Amino acid sequence: MPIKVMSVFGTRPEAIKMCPLVRELAATPGVESLVCVTGQHRQMLDQVLEVFGVTPDDDLNIMKARQTLASITTGVVEGVGEVIARRKPDIVLVHGDTTTSFAAALGAFYTQTRVGHVEAGLRTHNKYSPFPEEMNRVLTSRLADLHFAPTARNAAALAAEGVRDHVYITGNTVIDAFATTVRPDYRFASPVLREAVQHTGPLVLMTAHRRENLGSPLENICRAVLELCSRYPALRFVYPVHPNPAVREPVQRMLGGHRQILLIDPLDVVEMHNMMARCTLVLTDSGGLQEEAPHLGKPVLVMRTETERPEAVEAGTARVVGVETEAIAAAVSHLLDDPAAYRAMAHAQNPYGDGHASRRITGHILEYFNQQ
Ligand code: UD1
Ligand code: UDP
Repeated sequence: MPIKVMSVFGTRPEAIKMCPLVRELAATPGVESLVCVTGQHRQMLDQVLEVFGVTPDDDLNIMKARQTLASITTGVVEGVGEVIARRKPDIVLVHGDTTTSFAAALGAFYTQTRVGHVEAGLRTHNKYSPFPEEMNRVLTSRLADLHFAPTARNAAALAAEGVRDHVYITGNTVIDAFATTVRPDYRFASPVLREAVQHTGPLVLMTAHRRENLGSPLENICRAVLELCSRYPALRFVYPVHPNPAVREPVQRMLGGHRQILLIDPLDVVEMHNMMARCTLVLTDSGGLQEEAPHLGKPVLVMRTETERPEAVEAGTARVVGVETEAIAAAVSHLLDDPAAYRAMAHAQNPYGDGHASRRITGHILEYFNQQ
C-alpha cells in the first residue's frame, strides 16, 4: 500500500514553498500525494497553483473579504476534518506559520492523523510579533509528529522547547522553487515591468502586508517611500500591493499616482522572482522575501522590529530596520549613497539550503513509515 500524504495549504507563501514538495511527492514511488487547499487566499493561491501546474484534490474555499482569524480557524478545522475523514491520509503536511497551517494541524490532531510540519522551528520568542504567526508556529510544533527544520538553528530552537524526536534539517523548499522560476534571459510578461527594468537609476522592490504593521506602521512606511522619492529623483519603486483592503486603501491613498512609484497587483511568482533578480534592493516586511533576496544576492531591508530569520542577517544580506519613517528612509539612503555599504550586503549567500529540501523531506517521510 502506498503511503497517503495529504499536503494542506492555503496562502501564497505556503503554496510557493509546498508546490515543489507536492511535485516531488507525486513523482515518488510508494507515495500517493493528495492536495487539499483551504483557499485562505483565493486569487493569490490560484496564481501559484497555475505556475506550478498543481491541481488540488479538495478545495475548502474559505476566503472572505476582511476575514477574521477566528473565521479562518473554524473554517479550516472543520473543513480539513471532513476531508481527512473522506480521504484517510496516513499523514497531513502543513507549512510554516499561517492560520491555515495551525488550524489544519489541529484538524488532523482531532482525527488522530499524523502531522508533518514543513519549515519548522522558526522563532522570535515574542508572542505578538509576528502576529499571529509566532503562536501559530509554536502551537503547530506541539501538534506535529515530524518536524522539517530548514536550518540547524531551527532544529536547536525546537530542541530547546523539548521537541527532539523526528526533527530533520532539510533546507528550505523555497530554494527548490528557484529552479523553476529565475532565468537570466527572462522576458517579463507584464509590459510595465519590462519598462521598469529598463530604468537606469536605482530600483527598489517593495512589499508590506503584516497584520502588526496595519494602521500607523504602514502609514510610516508609505511616508518613508515618499521621503525617499523626494530625496532621490532617479529612484523608482515597484510595489505589488497585497489585496487585503486594510493594505490597499492606505497605500493607494498615500502613494497612488506618484510618478516614481509603480503600484501593481500581486505578481505571479515567476515575475516576482525575476524582478527580485533585477532590482537594486528589497524593502519588505515579508518572511519569505528574507530567504529569497539573499539567495539572489540582493540586500533586503526588513520593516519589522525583529526577525525569525537571523541567518540572513548573519550572512550580511538582511537588516532589520524597524517601522519608523526616518529609520526606513535612512537605511535605504545609506545603501544608495555608500557603494561600499551596498557591496557589503549585495552578495549571494544562501543559509537556506541547496535546492533539494523536497527530496530530503520525502525521504524522511518514507523512512518514518517504513520503520513503523
Ligand atoms: C496571511 C497569513 C500571513 C502570511 C500572509 C502572506 C495568517 C493569519 N496570515 O496574511 O502569515 O504572511 O498571508 O501573504 O494566516 N485577500 C484577497 N485575495 C487573496 C488574498 C487575500 O482578496 O488572494 C484579501 C481578503 O480580503 C482577505 C485579506 O486579504 O480577507 C487578508 O487575508 P488573510 O489571509 O486573512 O491575511 P494576510 O495578511 O494575507
Ligand atoms: N510574492 C509573489 N508576488 C508578489 C509578492 C510576493 O509571488 O507580488 C512571493 C514572494 O516571492 C515570496 C512569497 O510571495 O515567495 C512571500 O509571500 P508573502 O510576502 O505574501 O508572505 P510571507 O512570506 O511574509 O508569509
